[in-house]
Amino acid sequence: MKGESFLSFPKLRGWRLCRRGRWRALKSQILAASLTCTVLFVYACTQDLLQSPMHFSLLWGTSSQPTQVTLLIWYEPFGKRRRLGDCHVLFNVTGCHLTTNRSLYQESDAILFHHRDIGDFGDFPFEKRLPSQKWIWMNFESPSHSPWLSSLGGIFNWTMSYRVDSDVFVPYGYLFSRKRSKIIIPRKKNLVAWVISNWNEDHERVQYYNQLREYIDIDIFGRYGMDLKQDNIVKTVSEYKFYLAFENSLHTDYITEKLWRNAFKSSAVPIVMGPSRYNYEMFIPRNSFIHVDDFSSPRKLAMYLKFLDKNMHMYRRYFTWKKRYDVHVTSFWDEHYCTACETIKAAGSQHRTMTDLAGWFES
Ligand SMILES: *[C@@H]1O[C@H](CO)[C@@H](O)[C@H](O)[C@H]1NC(C)=O
Ligand SMILES: *[C@@H]1O[C@H](CO)[C@@H](O)[C@H](O)[C@H]1NC(C)=O
Ligand SMILES: *[C@@H]1O[C@H](CO)[C@@H](O)[C@H](O)[C@H]1NC(C)=O
Repeated sequence: MKGESFLSFPKLRGWRLCRRGRWRALKSQILAASLTCTVLFVYACTQDLLQSPMHFSLLWGTSSQPTQVTLLIWYEPFGKRRRLGDCHVLFNVTGCHLTTNRSLYQESDAILFHHRDIGDFGDFPFEKRLPSQKWIWMNFESPSHSPWLSSLGGIFNWTMSYRVDSDVFVPYGYLFSRKRSKIIIPRKKNLVAWVISNWNEDHERVQYYNQLREYIDIDIFGRYGMDLKQDNIVKTVSEYKFYLAFENSLHTDYITEKLWRNAFKSSAVPIVMGPSRYNYEMFIPRNSFIHVDDFSSPRKLAMYLKFLDKNMHMYRRYFTWKKRYDVHVTSFWDEHYCTACETIKAAGSQHRTMTDLAGWFES
């Protein structure tokens, strides 16, 4: 299963849902060392099908699938108005009607509630609620930055987040397979870069940085450092060999654009701080990144980076994935809405309520 044991997607929607099962299987450590990839895949998919009629209808097709779905976006995320995209034009997802017009409540199949905008439930349509409607809780912040979670039990039917086990799973990015090609790495003039906009001395990432910089030069960009070249992160970071892809908080599956865009798109080797290495390896190949936990101290990490700086052959090995994969960085918010729509279309009509939302999301 060389290079295949992580969460990559063929750029074909639908497969994604089945592949999710594989992740659940991996996560629950059903993975027996002797299983071949194919067996694992079939097994995991079957598990998924047993657990969820949704995937069954997706794979085999049933006449109960709605062909047209209306998705009402109750809050425009962070109060910002935007034009909604056309799912067919953008992602080849047909039969999807996105709207923010609350007058269409009665005819909506699902209502999307963005966590950060919920407030005191003052404008929640509780009394108009139809039993067949799916209320979807949507959140792409980590638990550390998601207040009032504990008041949300028993309200929503579905979850939508970066967590693999969400009902609508939308990661911040992913690798997708493509035709074999040559590895191209831009010329590197510099060593380590970090773009940071939220500087907090209490954050683990800042404390780690403060130690690391004693042993190796790190260029800081953003509000507290240098300006980005042409205001462009990828252009700037492409000139660096390494990138500090440090998350603002450490949680299951919480791997953001800091990895996918800032590091991978820039062809800089990510030095990650976030969930465990084991968790990262569900998303990306094990030899594509450096985890701070791989080293017993920032000093040892610095020594290793200096070693790689002098050893081009070893450095280039971190890009082996580029032979067969490319990076997709998820774009907010059309891709999220269209993925939700697609999942609703495939879901059938089973009923469900998230009773312990906080317990799940914080786990
Ligand atoms: C769009 O989706 C349809 C079926 O859902 C498929 O047959 C077609 O090839 C897709 N087109 C593109 C450009 O991917
Ligand atoms: C919202 O939908 C209602 C009912 O279809 C329609 O009368 C109204 O013009 C729509 N409002 C907007 C802002 O599009
Ligand atoms: C959604 O949750 C509500 C509240 O628990 C429940 O009454 C309703 O049947 C659920 N609907 C679906 C489609 O799951």
